Amino acid sequence: MERISTSAPGKLMLFGEHAVVYGYPCIVTAVDQRMRVIVGFNGRGAIGVRAPQVGLDRYHKRIADLGKQEVPKPVQFIEVLVKNFYEQYEVDRGLDILTESDFSVNFGFGSSAAVTTALAFGLSKLYSIQMSKKGLFDLCYKSVLEVQGVGSGFDIAAAIYGETLYFIGGRKEIKPLDSDGLPLIVGYTGVKADTPTLVRQVAELRRRRKAKVNKIFAEIAEIVETARGALTEKNYVLLGRAMDRNQKLLSDLGVSSKELDRLIAAARRAGALGAKLSGAGGGDCMVALRSAQGKLAIGKAIEEAGGEVIDVELGTEGVRLEKRA
Ligand code: PMV
Repeated sequence: MERISTSAPGKLMLFGEHAVVYGYPCIVTAVDQRMRVIVGFNGRGAIGVRAPQVGLDRYHKRIADLGKQEVPKPVQFIEVLVKNFYEQYEVDRGLDILTESDFSVNFGFGSSAAVTTALAFGLSKLYSIQMSKKGLFDLCYKSVLEVQGVGSGFDIAAAIYGETLYFIGGRKEIKPLDSDGLPLIVGYTGVKADTPTLVRQVAELRRRRKAKVNKIFAEIAEIVETARGALTEKNYVLLGRAMDRNQKLLSDLGVSSKELDRLIAAARRAGALGAKLSGAGGGDCMVALRSAQGKLAIGKAIEEAGGEVIDVELGTEGVRLEKRA
C-alpha cells in the first residue's frame, strides 16, 4: 500500500516571544533539523503510531474513538490532527504513522508543530487533497490549540513556510525576511522548558499588572521592527543591541532562568554582539550573535558555562514531500 514520507523543519524564535501570543509581531527562523513522518493506509479501522524519539513503541486507536479517552502525551498532537483532518474531509481509513526526529525533542525546536505539519501535509498527499498553505496552517493551528490551549502559531508558520519569517500572532501577516549569513550561535541549557506553563505564567502576570505587561509588549513590538530592519540591512551591531534589549524585557516578564542568564552572560563576555533566550524561556535554548571572528570563543564560553552548542543552519525549507513509495 502507498506510503508517503514528509518532513517539516524545527524553528528558533529570534525576537518577539510572548508578545506574539497577544497579536504582536515576532521573527522566527526555520532550522535544518527536521521532523519526519511516514504515513500510509493499513487496511484496518484504526491508527497505529510509532514515535521512537519520544519512547512510543506502538499505539493503537480505533478511528471512531479518535480524540476520546485518555491520550498519552507523545501522541496527542498526532491523534488530534488525524481526528480534525478526518472530520474536515469526511474520510475514515486506518493509518500507520511513524515519526522520526533529527533533533532531541528537549531543545524546544518546535517538534510538536513540526510533526503536526508534516503529518497534515502527508495526509493531504495520501488522500490527494489540495490544501493551500493557509488551509494547512488553519488545520494545524486548530489542532495544536486543541492540545495545548495556548500559542500564537508562529512555530506552525515556520514549519509550513520555512525561511525566516516576520509573523504576526493569529497569522495576520507572514512575510519572509532575508537572513542569509546571519552569524548566530545556539546554546542549549540542558533544561526542558514547558511552554504552556510559561505562557500561562505571563498571562497571570498580565492579569495582575496589565499596564506594566502591555508596556513591555509594546516595547518588544518596537524591538521586533528595529530587528527586522537591522536583519535585512545586515546591521549586526544594531541587531545585537535589539537582542539585548529584548532579553531585558523577557527578564522583566519573569521568563528567563539562571541557566539562560548564565549562558547569555558568558556569550556577551566572550564578545557576542547580543544574546537572548529563544522561545518561551525557563530553559531550552539561547541565541548569541557573533562577530566574524567570535565563533570559537563564544561557543567555548557557552560550553564552559554549562551549555551545549547546537550547530544549525537557519532559514531552511518549509514542509516538503520526501518520498512516495
Ligand atoms: O517554547 P517555544 O520555543 O515553542 O516558544 C514559545 C513562544 C511563545 O511566544 C512564548 C508562545 C507562542 O506560541 O508564541
